[in-house]
Amino acid sequence: MAIHFVKKKINCLIMKKISLTGIKPTGDLHIGNYFGAIKPALELANEYDARYFIADYHALNSMKNPKELNSSIRQVAAGWLAAGLDPEKVIFYRQSSIPEIFELTTMLMAFTAKGLMNRAHAYKASVQANNENSEDCDAGINMGLFTYPVLMAADIIIFDSDVVPVGKDQVQHIEMAQDIAQSVNANYGKKILKIPQAAVQENVAVVPGLDGRKMSKSYNNVIPLFAPEKTLQKTILRILTNSQTVEEPKDPETSQIFLLYKLFADENEQAALAARYRAGGMGWGEAKEELFRVVNRCLTPLREKYDAIIG
Ligand code: TRP
Repeated sequence: MAIHFVKKKINCLIMKKISLTGIKPTGDLHIGNYFGAIKPALELANEYDARYFIADYHALNSMKNPKELNSSIRQVAAGWLAAGLDPEKVIFYRQSSIPEIFELTTMLMAFTAKGLMNRAHAYKASVQANNENSEDCDAGINMGLFTYPVLMAADIIIFDSDVVPVGKDQVQHIEMAQDIAQSVNANYGKKILKIPQAAVQENVAVVPGLDGRKMSKSYNNVIPLFAPEKTLQKTILRILTNSQTVEEPKDPETSQIFLLYKLFADENEQAALAARYRAGGMGWGEAKEELFRVVNRCLTPLREKYDAIIG
């Protein structure tokens, strides 16, 4: 008995908590994804027993072209591997490879109130858009979208996940997973399912895009992670600037070129370039060339790895 207790205690001490997150296959990754999601998730993997997966059945709700879906899955998998995910350390898988997730989804459906799903933000937004466009309220809405939070709950619950690193937009989904797990536990009168917690990444860098707004595919203002060198350079040269002349001193802290530079350059480089901004005599073109130099230095090994995986 005593030995059993000691063993249990040791297990508790050495067993890391489980961190799990799903990655929607959205095709080309950009540096906003890298600093906002990939890098923090890889850092968490040092502390947690990390499980990261490609949520391909979630993507199917909105992506119906099989070629497009398949190539997005490959690209995003290669992207995470190239960006440093070590499959020896992180369990990295494709959602559709684990049929038990879908079995659990069906079981959880029986414990999920339809009213709960009616309140999901993504579903409500689609209904609202239909109403605004004087369409039928259900137009274009499939059952996969409606039951999206149940599949997500199954993704999480199947592994007894402790924490789920997500962006703010996903917090409601985690709360729904908690509600669903709790109704299973309440029904059986015991704690069968672990209640997961959201880990919202608050202090991750907001990466400015080419136009100064947050870098996002929907704004079409991204710097791709794995683009060929020439494309990378051309993209950086497209960053919007104001009409300050070469001679004018410039404030580095309000320049998105400098904010991007800070993500890639070391402290000495940052200080040296900030001084050149303030001194005047450096035009935006030159600032962009400096930015390209450090971005390319950092991304070249990632790009090479990506190209080698994608073939
Ligand atoms: N819904 C998440 C997103 O859009 C992706 C996702 C699917 C997920 N299943 C998950 C995230 C489970 C965390 C846990 O980004």
